[in-house]
Amino acid sequence: MEKDIQQRSEHLPVHVAIIMDGNGRWAMERGMPRTQGHLEGVKRVEEIIKAARDAGIKFLTIYAFSTENWTRPSEEVSMIMRTFIQVLGQKARDLDKNGVRINFIGRRQGIPQEVLKAMDKAALLTRDNAGMTLNIAFNYGARGEIVDAVKSIAQRVAAGLVKPDDIEEKTVSSFLYTKDQPDPDLLIRTSGEVRISNFLLWQLSYAELYFTDKCWPEFNEQEFLKALSTYAQRERRWGGVKVS
Ligand code: IPE
Ligand code: IPE
Ligand code: MG
Repeated sequence: MEKDIQQRSEHLPVHVAIIMDGNGRWAMERGMPRTQGHLEGVKRVEEIIKAARDAGIKFLTIYAFSTENWTRPSEEVSMIMRTFIQVLGQKARDLDKNGVRINFIGRRQGIPQEVLKAMDKAALLTRDNAGMTLNIAFNYGARGEIVDAVKSIAQRVAAGLVKPDDIEEKTVSSFLYTKDQPDPDLLIRTSGEVRISNFLLWQLSYAELYFTDKCWPEFNEQEFLKALSTYAQRERRWGGVKVS
């Protein structure tokens, strides 16, 4: 029994990243407006955060809004912004009680003031929690993140603080939004799309990828546990050979 638990925890990902996709299609297929899909999606966000925490996941990163999502119709964008403010206002306290630290990743520039205010409040309220870190990727784009990191490193080089020869992989990592966090072990994408869509390009180098046809509003705790058990059966080799 003890060995079981030990084995299970060895095969549990420390960091899970999720591309929550398919809200719009889920709603349209049911004759509802796309926005209804986002509302249903919010329920799954709550459910999956709780499931991840209960399973003992230490870092959960969810893709909520990309730098490319601004190109959507303005009514949809403003609906997402309003919902985001509301949900943060309503749920931050619960998450805090459950020991979740809320951390935002993405560019602040371009996010409306009221949204930033709700984000800052949630982050401040939960900043000392050690149970699980929830990274919410909002106005996030991986290429933008890498560009920002390169700029910061270049500025340090120009100021004579860093020598070009001293730049290592860990230097780059330390300038990303996810600095001080382990890379994701498992990436989940819902909705049947099989692409990365500008998400965590650097950090996903050796992540296990899990794609499911379920749309995000259908991705419940059971589906999440299925993804975890698939992960547990994968053999990660990191470019090496199997050690038996
Ligand atoms: C994911 O669902 C949520 C966001 C990107 C905000 P979509 O809105 O992308 O839904 P589909 O992919 O169009 O069905
Ligand atoms: C990725 O989904 C972004 C989020 C889930 C927030 P998209 O729906 O924006 O990605 P594409 O357009 O299918 O690549
Ligand atoms: Mg989509």
